[in-house]
Amino acid sequence: MTPKVARYLADHQPATPCLVLDVDRVAHNFARLRQAMPLARIYYAVKANPAAPILDRLVGLGSYFDAASFQEVEMCLASGAAPDSISYGNTIKRERDIAAAYAAGVRMFAFDSEMELEKLARSAPGSRVYCRILVGNDGAEWPLSRKFGCEVEMARALMIRAGQLGLDAFGLSFHVGSQQTKTAAYEAAIAKVAMLFTDLADAGVKVRMVNLGGGYPVRYKAEVPEIDDFGSAIMGAMAEHFGNAIPEIVIEPGRFLVADAGVVSSEVVLVSRKAENDPVRWVYLDIGRFGGLAETEGESIKYAFRTPHDGGSDGPVTIAGPTCDSTDTLYEKSNYRLPMALTAGDRVELLATGAYVTTYASQKFNGFEPLAEHYI
Ligand SMILES: Cc1ncc(COP(=O)(O)O)c(C=O)c1O
Repeated sequence: MTPKVARYLADHQPATPCLVLDVDRVAHNFARLRQAMPLARIYYAVKANPAAPILDRLVGLGSYFDAASFQEVEMCLASGAAPDSISYGNTIKRERDIAAAYAAGVRMFAFDSEMELEKLARSAPGSRVYCRILVGNDGAEWPLSRKFGCEVEMARALMIRAGQLGLDAFGLSFHVGSQQTKTAAYEAAIAKVAMLFTDLADAGVKVRMVNLGGGYPVRYKAEVPEIDDFGSAIMGAMAEHFGNAIPEIVIEPGRFLVADAGVVSSEVVLVSRKAENDPVRWVYLDIGRFGGLAETEGESIKYAFRTPHDGGSDGPVTIAGPTCDSTDTLYEKSNYRLPMALTAGDRVELLATGAYVTTYASQKFNGFEPLAEHYI
C-alpha cells in the first residue's frame, strides 16, 4: 500500500467496500517499465482499469493504448489520446465497432481469423493489422487459454491474405497469459514469432512489428520476478532471434501498471465456524466475487490481506463474500490464515487490487452497489 493510500484511508475512512488508487504510483510503474524495456512502445491495456484519472495521467506521460472495445477507444479519446496512439487489440469485434473506431481515426487492429480480416478490409480499409498467434501460457496465474490467437501456419496464410485485401500486414502478437510468473514464457513465444517473421519474409511479407502483449506480474501473496528480469529476458530473446534487425516492439501491460497502485478497503461482516470445535473460521467480507474480485475464481489470483490485528496470533480461515451465491467464496483451499482477534466491523484491506476489480463488479447483485472508487 502506498503511503498516500494509507493516509487517505486513515484520514477519510471511506465507506466500504471501495477501491482507493494512487495515480502517482501508476506513473511510477510506467517509468519502471520504460526503464526495463526502453525499446518497447507501451500500450496500456485499458481493460485493467479504465478510470479517467488513470487514462489522463498516462496520456500525459506519452503512453499508447490497447483498447478492447469501441467504448474503450472513446474513453481514451475523451482523455486526450490521439487516435493513432490507440490499438484496437481485441480479435473479436463487431463490424460496426470497427467502422466506428476507423471513423474516429484508429488505424491499428488485431485479428486471428479470416472472417475478422474481411471485416477489417471492409470497415477499416488500408489499416495496419497484426495477427495474434497461440503461445504457451505455462506459468500464468490467470491464463488466457485458447480463446484468442491462431496457429502459426494459419497466421502465415492470414498475413499474406491481409495484403491481398489491401490491409497493411504490419505485425504479429501473442499473450503469454496474465500474471505470468516465468520469464521463459516470453522467450519461447519470441522464438516462435521470430520463425514466423522469417517465413513471412520468404513469402514476400515484410512484417515490421512484434507485440509481446501483457502478462507482466505483480506481487500479491507470493514473490514474483522483478520487471527488470522480464526486461532482460525479453531483450535477450529479441536480440538472439532477430539479431540487428529488431522490429518495432509493442507491449500491452495492464496489471503491472495499475494493480499495486490500488487497495480495496472492506469490512468484516461476520466471523463464524461450521461446528463448535471446527479449527477453520469463516470470514465474510462486504466484498466478494460479485463485488469485483472475479479473479479469485479457482483461487487463481491470491490477494494479500491487511487487518488491524496483524502480528497477533492467527489461524486458518475460509474467506467469502457477502452474497447468497456459494461460488462467492474467495479462498477455501489456499491455506489463508487471519488473526484470531478478527471480528465483525473490522476494516480489512486487500492489497494490489487496482487491476481487474472495479469493472468486474456486478450491478446490484443482492442489492449491493457496484464498488466505489477513489482516485487520489
Ligand atoms: C490483448 C491483451 N493485451 C494485454 C492484456 C493485459 O494483460 P496484463 O494485465 O496481464 O498485462 C490483456 C489481458 O487480458 C489482453 O487480452
